[in-house]
Amino acid sequence: MENRAVYPGFFDPITNGHVDIILRGLKIFDRIVVAVLKNPKKKPLFSTKERVAMIRTIFAHQSEIEVKAFDGLLVDFSRRNGAKIVIRGLRAVSDFEYEFQMALMNRKLDSEIETLFMMPSLNYSFLSSGLVKEVFLLGGCVEDLVPEIVEKKLREKLKKGRFIFSN
Ligand code: PNS
Repeated sequence: MENRAVYPGFFDPITNGHVDIILRGLKIFDRIVVAVLKNPKKKPLFSTKERVAMIRTIFAHQSEIEVKAFDGLLVDFSRRNGAKIVIRGLRAVSDFEYEFQMALMNRKLDSEIETLFMMPSLNYSFLSSGLVKEVFLLGGCVEDLVPEIVEKKLREKLKKGRFIFSN
């Protein structure tokens, strides 16, 4: 039986920290389903379609990685996709409280589903999508913080003057 996990997130946009976690996850799982939240509370810079498309481009040559948009409960999505493990990245102690709450709530909703925390490379432990957008908008270099396609799409947004975002 294929050993698969779900890696959920907002991914607005995906960063090298997320990519690092996905690649680490592949050392443990045969397949990872990257689950892109469709309707977050905050307004995204990139549409669901754009967020999914960027991630698909990054992993175009890795058939073990699937990218899907989802709404509703994560546990329902995981069950529908045959995954009993949810992977979450932990960057720093500050992530812990939110992640702890989410993991226990998901366990309450479905006791069959476990959350697996993984630490990204130290190089990315300060990195977040919100910071990437802020640094980029203020003229900073994000070259080694996001995949090439993301940098390109950020530049396009800036050119179109669509760079309004919430953190
Ligand atoms: O990238 P993020 O914002 O840390 O991802 C958060 C995400 C998408 C994992 C979380 O908001 C989520 O699972 N949303 C789906 C709705 C849900 O299942 N809520 C109950 C879980 S506590």
